[in-house]
Amino acid sequence: MSFYQPESITCNGSTFRLFISREQLESRIAALADEINRDFAEKKPIFIGILNGAFIFLADLMRHVSIPCEVDFFKLSSYGDEKVSSGRVTELKDLDADIQGRHVVLIEDIVDTGLSMKYMINRLNEKKPASVSVVTLLHKPDASRHEVELDYIGFEIPTLFVLGYGMDYAQEGRNLAQIYVIEEEPENNS
Ligand code: PRP
Repeated sequence: MSFYQPESITCNGSTFRLFISREQLESRIAALADEINRDFAEKKPIFIGILNGAFIFLADLMRHVSIPCEVDFFKLSSYGDEKVSSGRVTELKDLDADIQGRHVVLIEDIVDTGLSMKYMINRLNEKKPASVSVVTLLHKPDASRHEVELDYIGFEIPTLFVLGYGMDYAQEGRNLAQIYVIEEEPENNS
C-alpha cells in the first residue's frame, strides 16, 4: 500500500508545500500515545474525535493506544469553506455515548483561535464527565483568541494556513497523507 504524499500540491487554486512529513507525524503520534497510555491506564477513557478534521489523526493515534478505551464522535463546523474562522460554531452531530462520570479525551486536528475547542469543552461539561482532557495534533499559539487548556500537543506551528492529514481547504485535501502549508494565494484573492 502506498500513501498519496506529493512534495507540493495545488488545491482550489492555491499552492501548498510539504510542512510536516509522514515520518515526523508517525513518530510524534507514537510518542503522544505513549503518554496517553501511561496517563489513562486505569481510567478506561472515551476518546471523542471532533469531525471532520480529526478523523485521520484519531485513526492513527488509536492504533497506538493499548489500554481499554471507547471511541465516539462529535461534529462541529466553524470555517465553512473559508480559510478564516466564521466566528460561529455550528453543531452538526452530538455524541451517541453517555459520558456522565467518564474520563473524556477530546481529539482535535488543530486548535487555531480556540473557538471550537472552548465550545466543545463547555458543551461536554454539561454532560457531567469525570474529566475532560484535550489532545490536539497542531496548535497555533499566536492565533489564540479563546483561552483553552491543551493537555497534549503534537506540534506548535506559526499562524499559517495548513492542509492535509484530515484538514481541508473548501473540503478538499483531507486525503493527503502529510501536512502542507500555503505558499501562494490565488492572484484574484489578494
Ligand atoms: C477546523 C478544525 C478545528 C477548528 C479549529 O474545523 O478541525 O475544529 O477548525 O479552529 P478554531 O480553533 O479557530 O475554532 P472546521 O470548522 O474547519 O471543520 P472541519 O473539522 O469539518 O474541517
